Amino acid sequence: MKVLVIGGGAREHALCRSLSLDPDVSALYCAPGNAGIAEVAELRPVDALNGTAVARLAAELGAGLVVVGPEAPLVAGVADSVRAAGIPCFGPSAAAAQLEGSKAFAKDVMAAAGVPTARSYVCTTPEEVDAALDAFGAPYVVKDDGLAAGKGVVVTEDRAAARAHALACGRVVIEEYLDGPEVSLFAITDGVTVLPLQPAQDFKRALDGDAGPNTGGMGAYSPLPWADPKLVDEVMELVLQPTVDELRHRGTPFSGLLYAGLAITGRGTRVIEFNARFGDPETQVVLARLRTPLASVLLNAAKGTLDAEPPLSWRDEAAVTVVIASRDYPETPRTGDPIEGLAEVAEQDAPDAYVLHAGTARDGDRVVSAGGRVLSVTATGSDLVQARERAYKAVARIRLDGAQHRTDIAAKAAEGR
Ligand code: AMP
Ligand code: GLY
Repeated sequence: MKVLVIGGGAREHALCRSLSLDPDVSALYCAPGNAGIAEVAELRPVDALNGTAVARLAAELGAGLVVVGPEAPLVAGVADSVRAAGIPCFGPSAAAAQLEGSKAFAKDVMAAAGVPTARSYVCTTPEEVDAALDAFGAPYVVKDDGLAAGKGVVVTEDRAAARAHALACGRVVIEEYLDGPEVSLFAITDGVTVLPLQPAQDFKRALDGDAGPNTGGMGAYSPLPWADPKLVDEVMELVLQPTVDELRHRGTPFSGLLYAGLAITGRGTRVIEFNARFGDPETQVVLARLRTPLASVLLNAAKGTLDAEPPLSWRDEAAVTVVIASRDYPETPRTGDPIEGLAEVAEQDAPDAYVLHAGTARDGDRVVSAGGRVLSVTATGSDLVQARERAYKAVARIRLDGAQHRTDIAAKAAEGR
């Protein structure tokens, strides 16, 4: 099977890496990709938001499966265009991707399906905003209704700041603050059958100790030794299956990757948000642990035959990924700096540790930074302690002027806290 992956971040590098190791995949293409993905897939230029262009490229390449990585093309209807061209596509329709594209839509689906989430109000006027802020009190949680690449959510004790964010956004969801550790749980679905993956935890803040601004994610690990072993079953029953059923009953079945961002609160598990695609950087650690070859699972989801898929099989190993970000990320990331040390990791640390590229580009024979999150250094080990050691050993080999990374990814979990 020939596979085309759309996107160009470390998530897509992880997807391409897994697909490139799958004997069912005869040719692998990625559009637009990045400097690291070029080592495992053939790159093609494309405007990823243009469904017609993506469908045309897939047809030209003879792709038997298109996998859409990021949310923006999904919300723009790229999966619809690919399917309309008769090519199986892993990723939801624009209508179903509203689960990520509109927080208000997601709340409505959850209410209809009885899925536990924070109590919330959808607000458009200053009066509604004031009433909602006062109803919940501090800490205030204000979310831009639409896609905002992780920048639409403000959680603050400062009422004036919460109010200002709400008024700047226009339509917002204001909700109850959820206290407790966060878990990302992904499920592959064809709109009927739901196959959960293994849970992971993401580190959203820029700095050690969860300080600093929110980012797209600074690292992740899996498994979660502290989590209740029944967590996956519980989330399947309370969240994933009811959500998939609700969207099917509405006539907009969700097929692709359903990402539940969860808070494990004292009063039970609650959904913080849904995403309509693989998470980044959690995918890097989840796929590092997946033993089942990926292509047939994604194809069965795309074709509506996921019930034919045997249960997923997992490596009995832990995985940790550490994001190396540019200088001044997330505010004004500097790009164009040369990256050194990639060959050393490949020679000395593989296969236990490897570098997945996010914002990188080729400049002659050099690899240079080309985005905020630059690399996702990923390692496996017999437990989180070993996986961490290997990941940070590889991180230390990378040289990128002004780069930053967190030093505490998976640290508490590795210590049994
Ligand atoms: P989201 O884009 O909805 O995932 O929100 C980004 C981050 O804001 C989440 O990962 C949480 O850390 C935080 N957050 C979102 N909603 C809440 C909530 N209701 N209570 C506490 N923190 C939240
Ligand atoms: N890791 C957070 C996200 O992918 O949205």
